[in-house]
Amino acid sequence: THGGISKKNAHPHRVGNVVLAHNGIVENYDELKHSVGNTHEFSSDTDSEVIAVLLHKAYTKTKSPDQAIRDVAKQITGRFAIVVMFDGIPGFFAARRGSPIIIGKAKEATYVASDIPAFLEYTQTVNYIDDNEMVYVTPSNTRVTNLITGRKVQKRDITVSWEPEEIEKGSWPHFMIKEIFDQKETILEAIHHNNKTIQSFVKKLETAKGIYLIACGTAHKVAMVAEYLFADIAHIKINVVPAAEMPSFEKFVHKNTALLAISQSGETADVLEILERGKKRGARILSITNVPSSSIARLSDAHFPINAGAEKAVASTKAATSQMALLLVCAYTASKKHTSIKTLTDIGRGVIWNTTSAINDMLNPRYAKHIEKIAKKISRHQNLFIIGRGTLYPIALEAAIKIQEVSYIHAQGFAAGELKHGPIALIEKGTPCVVLGDDPETIANAIELQSRGGFIIGIAPTQARVVDLWIRVPDCNSAQAIATVIPIQLLSYYLARARKLDPDMPRNLAKSVTVK
Ligand code: G6P
Repeated sequence: THGGISKKNAHPHRVGNVVLAHNGIVENYDELKHSVGNTHEFSSDTDSEVIAVLLHKAYTKTKSPDQAIRDVAKQITGRFAIVVMFDGIPGFFAARRGSPIIIGKAKEATYVASDIPAFLEYTQTVNYIDDNEMVYVTPSNTRVTNLITGRKVQKRDITVSWEPEEIEKGSWPHFMIKEIFDQKETILEAIHHNNKTIQSFVKKLETAKGIYLIACGTAHKVAMVAEYLFADIAHIKINVVPAAEMPSFEKFVHKNTALLAISQSGETADVLEILERGKKRGARILSITNVPSSSIARLSDAHFPINAGAEKAVASTKAATSQMALLLVCAYTASKKHTSIKTLTDIGRGVIWNTTSAINDMLNPRYAKHIEKIAKKISRHQNLFIIGRGTLYPIALEAAIKIQEVSYIHAQGFAAGELKHGPIALIEKGTPCVVLGDDPETIANAIELQSRGGFIIGIAPTQARVVDLWIRVPDCNSAQAIATVIPIQLLSYYLARARKLDPDMPRNLAKSVTVK
């Protein structure tokens, strides 16, 4: 968050007798730096170094690592997870407020990390450290205390269900392509909840005084898809707000307003903060995450795991389709069309079963090859546009994010009907335009694009005449967004490959954004 990517800004930071690594952001960094005065010459541009300076001072004074960490934690405003070593003291200390810390316990070693996959190869036994807790770790012992009171905290050993193989690429060249193909199985896993659980979750939504879906990035596009699904299927209006924009609408969050967070990691700081504040206002906190033990899940009154298995690639793929599948079943459950709510949940399940089976037929090496060829053909272009309508409008936005983040092509998604109000001015001869869907209105928009020189790539169940290149997707009715996003993921992946980029390592991005 502070300073460029350079050796001097890399963690850990050593100051005197203290070595520190920090995840998070010190909001009062300037003030703290000032308080240190000229007693220390800062050697990095990071906010973290000031924590090391304060710890060094406190430890020199108190000679107690515990006391030093407690004293310094009091002074920091903002979110942090820190790992600290003190000269002469075996093992290390870690503390958190807002950013994740997880302990992995193996027979001959103990691990401290911010995410389980970091140590999953060595152990599946974990202790979750909560906010305002500190842990002292030696190879043979783990001692957890409250960061404020200093009192001992008892932790339960939990065995995580993720298998170590899940974080291996196996024979796949990248995690991204592995996770795209994982979707043959993961979508069904998402709805692996009994009807009662789904119905009680939906009831909490339906009976709320206003529903807000809060998310970031790809999860936010999923939330937008859900907005359409709830409107179309359940005739319920939900509000979708990117977490960072929610402060403007928090005045509408009261007792019994439902805040439903959608998040793969369950750790995204912007989302977490809105939920924490919502909770204080009496809102119902609901969440759908891929990590049942995440901060967001644990803060929630009701939580749904999507059971997609570890997602390692920065660009989210399988988590998104799983989230959509679960939200679709929730939308059917909330529908008022029939009297028997049980039947409705099962109708939703039926849609997802059919969709999964159609996706299984679609997602094969020949299909991937076809998309790879298209990617190679358009990979030299600097601009690319995607249009869609209804649930495919958020998918057009998602397509833009996916393509931007892994291939660095300037991609933009638009609502098909908005084209004529500005975006069409961007179309030049040969500009690749991806058209999602084959309904007559969208095809009319595709014709407008083509007549301005656009090169039309159609992603739809049928091949319209206007289409220069066609990627077939099955007709999945209300689950069309789920089927359509998959060729987009493949196109992004192969665009990155064609441009000789590593799709698993997009520049400037992080998998879990645990800072604001
Ligand atoms: C980051 C990732 C995205 C992800 C977003 C939200 O920006 O790069 O892929 O969609 O965070 O993450 P979450 O874990 O909350 O779904």
